[in-house]
Amino acid sequence: MMSLTRTRTCFFVYCFLSSLELPVTSQTVVHAAQAHSAGSQVITASLQEDEYASFHAENPAWKFNHIAVDYHNGNVYLGAVNRIYKLSPSLEVQVSHETGPDEDNRKCYPPRIVQPCSEPLSLTNNVNKMLLMDYRENRLLACGSLYQGICKLLRLDDLFKLGEPFHKKEHYLSGVNESGSVFGVIVSYGNASPDMLFIATAVDGKPEYFPTISSRKLARNSEEDGMFAYVFHDEFVASMIKIPSDTFTVIPDFDIYYIYGFASGNFVYFLTLQPEMGNGPTTGSSTGREQVYTSKIVRLCKADTAFNSYVEVPIGCISGNVEYRLLEAAYLSKAGAILARSLDVEPDDDVLFTIFSKGQKRRPRQASQDSALCVFSLRKINEKIKERLQSCYKGEGTLDLAWLKVKDIPCSSALLTIDDDFCGLDMNAPLGVSEMVHGKPLLTDAVDKMTSVIAYVYKNHSLVFVGTKNGRVKKVRSRNTG
Ligand SMILES: *[C@@H]1O[C@H](CO)[C@@H](O)[C@H](O)[C@H]1NC(C)=O
Ligand SMILES: *[C@@H]1O[C@H](CO)[C@@H](O)[C@H](O)[C@H]1NC(C)=O
Repeated sequence: MMSLTRTRTCFFVYCFLSSLELPVTSQTVVHAAQAHSAGSQVITASLQEDEYASFHAENPAWKFNHIAVDYHNGNVYLGAVNRIYKLSPSLEVQVSHETGPDEDNRKCYPPRIVQPCSEPLSLTNNVNKMLLMDYRENRLLACGSLYQGICKLLRLDDLFKLGEPFHKKEHYLSGVNESGSVFGVIVSYGNASPDMLFIATAVDGKPEYFPTISSRKLARNSEEDGMFAYVFHDEFVASMIKIPSDTFTVIPDFDIYYIYGFASGNFVYFLTLQPEMGNGPTTGSSTGREQVYTSKIVRLCKADTAFNSYVEVPIGCISGNVEYRLLEAAYLSKAGAILARSLDVEPDDDVLFTIFSKGQKRRPRQASQDSALCVFSLRKINEKIKERLQSCYKGEGTLDLAWLKVKDIPCSSALLTIDDDFCGLDMNAPLGVSEMVHGKPLLTDAVDKMTSVIAYVYKNHSLVFVGTKNGRVKKVRSRNTG
């Protein structure tokens, strides 16, 4: 189903160009071809002009969930249902590693591999939920849905299993079996200290077992006992945020889906899709009105072990009077000189390319195909957060985060200077921002839904590759008219 088709269309600031000569390496196209929400079965790489290679899993039911490309050599790692594959840059299989299926039941907590479970077991698929390159230790971190969401550490060369911690509570990330619900970011502090892993995950109705965001120790030795231990944990404070169980009495199927994440400057960011809590009591999704969703960007300081720096800002995009509020995919890139001019930022500034679909309702069957590609300046999002922190520390407004049960708690004033790198105190935290930050729309498509995006800068142009539900790749370039 995934094939590579070139598209030519022109619009306001951007233009698809198939004739432009570009260093289109297999990495970039393979990357763009991922449609993680749709669960593709084939990936295709463009090798040279009009020459393509493709790869199918041996079982068509083993959909591809994630892709990672080694930037040293172009090798491609695929996280699929029940398998992890290592492919060459031209997509020849080099090794495959089996991860499932196995006897399991999502109600078995702790999982049956640790303790006998009285629930009926059945052969269960292992959906790949997270695939991260750990370049420093030359290994791949592959987390699945089986056994409450445990992870394997696999050697990059041959996928040899270096470790698979599963005997402690913090080794279970969550049993959710949808890809596109979990995101991890590795944060390095140089060679002296071990890396940290920020994990953000949907909790699948089990907020008491799984924090929705936490920071973990990523031990250098894959077999080390403290692998994935919380960076900080005492009686009162921990490097984690849990969804309060009260939130589930308001919205029984409440959850936060993490679509993307990255580190930039002193911060770690996650892009989420979550049910909107509304103002008054709602009747829930099964009775009465349909659940409305919203997209938000979450920011945390890398060094904040108490998670006092947690801030959440709603994001969306409007194009031609149509609101696009459901985040599908995102990618962090640099602006490049030409796009920087039209966004009023510096060429080296971080920008976020995002795909949103129309509206705020996620009807699974008759979901809208209408989607938009929008760009955000990270500098502007940070400015908005700084302004909100400054006004809250003057005692203005409330903490305004409904799902964390702090919506109506008033901000407290304190005399302090809040600069760009402020990491919060144990007051006025966690903090929500009510005003939405709007992206700049670059392209909309009402027919073939856009589902994935990557970008890079080439000769001052920002080049964006967008993958669609029907398996097309659109190449989009910034134009001088911006
Ligand atoms: C995920 O879990 C649900 C409910 O247990 C099941 O119906 C579905 O088939 C699972 N998905 C995969 C890909 O196995
Ligand atoms: C890129 O932009 C810079 C600054 O605007 C300019 O000096 C440079 O010549 C441009 N490079 C190319 C390849 O156009």
